[in-house]
Amino acid sequence: MMDARLDSPDRNLRYLKSAFLAVEPADSLISLARQAGGGSITPQVQDFVLKHCIGNIVEEGTPSNRTYIRNILKKIIVAAESSSDAVVEGLYEEFGHYLTVHTEEGLLKESGRIYKEISFYSSTYDSCSGSANFVVRLLCSLNMLEGDTGCSLWPSSLFLSEFILSYPKIFLNKFCFEVGSGVGLVGVCLNQVGASKVILTDGDIQTLANMKSNVELNGLRNEAISSQILCRSTNRVECKYLPWEFVSESELQSYEPDIILGADIIYDPVCVPHLIRVLSALLGSQKSSSNEPKASDFDDLGVSFQAEEINKDRSRKEGKESPSSYIATVIRNLDTFNYFLKLASEANLSVIDITKTINPLNLLPYMLSYDRSSVHLLRVSFLCD
Ligand SMILES: C[S@@+](CC[C@H](N)C(=O)[O-])C[C@H]1O[C@@H](n2cnc3c(N)ncnc32)[C@H](O)[C@@H]1O
Repeated sequence: MMDARLDSPDRNLRYLKSAFLAVEPADSLISLARQAGGGSITPQVQDFVLKHCIGNIVEEGTPSNRTYIRNILKKIIVAAESSSDAVVEGLYEEFGHYLTVHTEEGLLKESGRIYKEISFYSSTYDSCSGSANFVVRLLCSLNMLEGDTGCSLWPSSLFLSEFILSYPKIFLNKFCFEVGSGVGLVGVCLNQVGASKVILTDGDIQTLANMKSNVELNGLRNEAISSQILCRSTNRVECKYLPWEFVSESELQSYEPDIILGADIIYDPVCVPHLIRVLSALLGSQKSSSNEPKASDFDDLGVSFQAEEINKDRSRKEGKESPSSYIATVIRNLDTFNYFLKLASEANLSVIDITKTINPLNLLPYMLSYDRSSVHLLRVSFLCD
C-alpha cells in the first residue's frame, strides 16, 4: 500500500515508487526519477529510492525482484554519475550488497516469477495524501509465453481494469464471467467494485494455478458461490478451467452471467472460432432482468452521448435483454481481428468499438510502458431482429 506518511507528498516521487513496485522497465524508472528531481537524479531522489522503494520489496519479493532491484540500482548510479549528481553512499553500499548476496541467491533460485504491485490512482488526485486508492499484487512470469501467455500481465487487462474502476455502477451486484483471465487482475477489480459473483476462467493449467494464487494474494477466497446471490459477494472469486475448444454448450449455458469480459484474447486465428462459440453461448443465456448498462451507470464520467446510444439500443430490444460483453484488445494482426469480426457477424453478434465513447480514466499515470492508445474496448452483444 502507498505510504501516506512520506515526508514530502510529492506526486512525482509517488509515481516513481508506484512504477518501481509495478516493476516498470529501467528506462521508465530513470525518466520518473529525473522528473522527480527536476531534471536530474538528485541525492534527495536517491534517498527516496533507498528508503521508500527498495526497502518495501526486499523481504517479500522473489529472487527476480531482487535482480530487478540490483539492475535499477546500477542504472540509477550510472545515470546520476553521468549527470554529475553526487551519488549517496547508501546507494553504492546497497548495490554492493546486491552484487554479492543476492546474485548468488538469484543464480540458485531464479524462478522466472516476479511480484508486481499495480497501483490504481484515484481520478481526483489528492495532493495532500497523494495516495493510490487501490493496489493489486500479482505474481507474474518474466517469460511472456509461459502458461500459453497467461502468466504475464497484458495491456488490455490494465485497460479493462481501468474501465471497471471508472464505471463501477455497471458491475455493481452483477454476475461477471471472464474468459482467458491470465493473472487475474480483472477479477480482483470486479470484486473491488462490488460484483455479486465473479468467475475467472482460463484454458491453461499453469495459468490457472498462478491465477488462484494471485486471487489469494489479494485477500480473496477462490470459492464457488453456488446459490443465486443478489448482493455483493464477500471477497470470493472463483477460478475455473475452461478451454474454449472443449467446454460443452450445456456447461456454458448453465452459467447465465450478466456480464462477460475478456482481455487480449483475440490473437490466435485457430482459437477464434472456439472463442466465438463460447461468447455466443454465454451471451445466449437470456435473462428476464436487464443486464445492459443503464444511462445512469455512466454518470461517473458524464458520458451522455453513450447513454443516448444505450437507451436507443435498449428500446430497440424491447425487453429481450441479453447479457453484455466487454472485450479489450490490442489489434496486433489485422487479418486475425477481421476474422473475429467475420465470424462474429456470421454468429449474429454485433461488435461495437466503444473505446472513444467510453474513454476510461487514466488510473495508471506512472506506468510509462503502458500504451493505453493501443487498446480497443469492444462491446459484443447479440444482434436483435
Ligand atoms: C494474452 S493472454 C491475456 C491474459 C489476460 N487476460 C491479460 O490480458 O493479461 C491470453 C489468455 O487467453 C488464454 N487462452 C488462449 N487460448 C485459450 C483457449 N483456447 N481456451 C481458454 N483460454 C485460452 C491464455 O491461456 C491466456 O491466459
